[in-house]
Amino acid sequence: MIRSVIVGSGSYLPKNIVTNDDLAKTLDTSDEWIIQRTGIKQRHIADEGETTADLGEKAARAALKDANVDVADIDLIILATSTPDNTFPATSVNIQHRLGMKHGAAFDMQAVCSGFVFALTTADQYIRCGQARRILVIGAETFSRILDWDDRTTCVLFGDGAGAVVIESQEGVGVTADRGILSSHLRSDGSHKEKLFVDGGPSSTGTVGHLRMQGREVFKHAVGMITDVITAAFDATGLDVADIDWFVPHQANKRIIDATARKLNIPSQKVVLTVDMHGNTSAASIPLALAAAVDDRRIKKGDIILLEAMGGGFTWGSVLLRW
Ligand code: UT7
Repeated sequence: MIRSVIVGSGSYLPKNIVTNDDLAKTLDTSDEWIIQRTGIKQRHIADEGETTADLGEKAARAALKDANVDVADIDLIILATSTPDNTFPATSVNIQHRLGMKHGAAFDMQAVCSGFVFALTTADQYIRCGQARRILVIGAETFSRILDWDDRTTCVLFGDGAGAVVIESQEGVGVTADRGILSSHLRSDGSHKEKLFVDGGPSSTGTVGHLRMQGREVFKHAVGMITDVITAAFDATGLDVADIDWFVPHQANKRIIDATARKLNIPSQKVVLTVDMHGNTSAASIPLALAAAVDDRRIKKGDIILLEAMGGGFTWGSVLLRW
């Protein structure tokens, strides 16, 4: 049985760090409020002229290096982003060009904060169908460009960044002892559009627009939806909470992560948390968190990793894998 194994990871964060106190200089907010409600202490914000392709390219190069894979051996690039450089062409194609890759293909995928889980799941299908042997999966965002910096209910929550992984086709046996992606579950429900959306777009307003969110409404649905896809992952594999080495959730809000972990009895020592340092980087948050936990040697070969995300759409999903 063919398995999609993650063989390398990498990330990149813009140099510019903005603390909660920095925000409080121009906004009616405080470090105390932001930490208490979200767990966020700081976020990285892209410099003027620094785009999603810039961040994505750097993360991609880091992942290729970590995997010890040459770009000549990559068949496909999938970039999860909701903040592309241009309406078209796809930002992934720009990254493909910058990496010097003329073969294969690249495309963008848009599932907002669930983007990386959707992209990884899609990449897994390409690998298991034999259409690709090695795929670069990137999550890269510059949410700072779509924030309303006068709206304290949203602008304090997000940050910019990028993370990437290289996945490779390897022979497995068809059991959970195999390395690679063991299960993935994707969901969406468009009836929740008004709760989290951007109020602009090429076909509606002809503008880029700004992020709008009914935070409390999103919060209300988040834990239930996340639990649904995690339960589906356990049902599909026969694994359960005790088997999980690392829980790497989308980093939207520490309270949501804590509530999910509590509901599923996942001990806090097994939760990889970066929301304090990065804020919510949407599709970039999971690969950024993975790269952080690989860099500090928490995640090791053979570990069972549970990924989950929920975001605009609503979209939500989980991936259970052995590293
Ligand atoms: O990636 C997925 C997308 N997003 C999420 O998952 C976010 C989900 N939601 C949340 O994380 C939380 O709902 C928020 C962090 C957005 C807000 O926390 P909350 O506990 O739900 O607060 P709230 O919206 O009910 O607001 C409470 C109060 C309000 O004041 P009043 O009406 O009680 O006087 C807000 O105006 O806090 C006020 N407030 C702020 N105060 C200081 C809202 N934003 C701020 C702020 N600083 N930045």
